[in-house]
Amino acid sequence: MNKKTVRDIEWNGKRALVRVDFNVPQDSEGSVTDDTRIRAALPTIRYLLEQGANGVVLMSHLGRPKGKVNAKYSMRPVVERLFELLPEAHEVRKTEVTTGEAAEAAAAALQPGTVLMLENTRFDPREEANDAGMSAELARLGDVFVNDAFGAAHRANASTEGVAHHLPAVAGFLMEKELEYIGGALEQPKRPFVTIIGGAKISDKIGVIDNLLGKVDALLIGGGMANTFLLAEGKEMGDSLIEPESVETARTLIAKAKAANVRLLLPVDAVIADAFSAEANTKVVSVDAIPAGWRMLDIGPETTKQYRSEVAAAQLVIWNGPMGVFELDPFASGTRAIASAMAEAAAGGAITIVGGGDSVAAVEQAGLAAQMSHVSTGGGASLELLEGKKLPGVAALQDR
Ligand code: 3PG
Repeated sequence: MNKKTVRDIEWNGKRALVRVDFNVPQDSEGSVTDDTRIRAALPTIRYLLEQGANGVVLMSHLGRPKGKVNAKYSMRPVVERLFELLPEAHEVRKTEVTTGEAAEAAAAALQPGTVLMLENTRFDPREEANDAGMSAELARLGDVFVNDAFGAAHRANASTEGVAHHLPAVAGFLMEKELEYIGGALEQPKRPFVTIIGGAKISDKIGVIDNLLGKVDALLIGGGMANTFLLAEGKEMGDSLIEPESVETARTLIAKAKAANVRLLLPVDAVIADAFSAEANTKVVSVDAIPAGWRMLDIGPETTKQYRSEVAAAQLVIWNGPMGVFELDPFASGTRAIASAMAEAAAGGAITIVGGGDSVAAVEQAGLAAQMSHVSTGGGASLELLEGKKLPGVAALQDR
């Protein structure tokens, strides 16, 4: 990572303005249901407190309130959770505002050892417009800007990118870890390098597949997007989810893989169902034998075996996107098998990286997250990194 980090700053007496990604899921009562992203930011916050920073000002977006104040997206429940997780901070407070005089007064009143969380940055329409006026106002709240919001680093917003032009700007530990794992894997991959790409749609992952074809040894395809690849290979897919507009793209990607000497693996068998439901009738068939009226909802056991052995032989595995409709138990085995194969590969010394909301949820559901080398906190951001794109929130930080 060629960006400066919190380690490059002498913090004593300086107030830290830290962008975190506390865009966390909540239940209908507003309680935080998954605090992974809050926990993931703690090492940076703790470090700043320990180093004698003159207070830590945190800012984040939550949900998509579209530039309007909306109590449903208040940071209040997040602050409550943070307070429980960070007992060593003398005080964790929340402002009702994001910028302006009240925010400046609250920030100025901070003492070493205290933390202040600003209200949702997206309550201000200037946030997503990356408005220079808002960035300048945010910059008045701290002496040094720390970006630890990997999950939001693909957004060029006032609190992620804009503010970095107004203050010395460095990466936090979470940002550093994400970039080192994902960026490092792509720059200097250990081999064999295997990627598993799943999810519903090819159109969401074209950029990723295209970029990875130049780097990986094998690319394993699963999930709904496999259907369109199989159709492109001339299979009858019955009632399976298909993207007719992506069939040509699938053909191009298959040809590209061949030309690049990358083994592109498609499912050879499938768990099919006569309805999209956990109660549907199901059977296992070859992908050459999907009857009309049936749909593919998971990879089959033979495919699972092949994919598991590819993972077992790899030194580096990156996984993005589930292999089937894992939310419904009858169609979860393919996804679970990949999660366990990756955990075993990691135990054997391979680097295993999981990115993207659904595959991360699957790994967590399987209780295997702690056994992976790295589980990314970024959905869109990790995809854009895998696509080979520059993340604006990272690009704006100071070079080492
Ligand atoms: C995420 O959850 O992926 C990030 O917090 C970004 O959120 P957004 O897609 O609403 O910009």
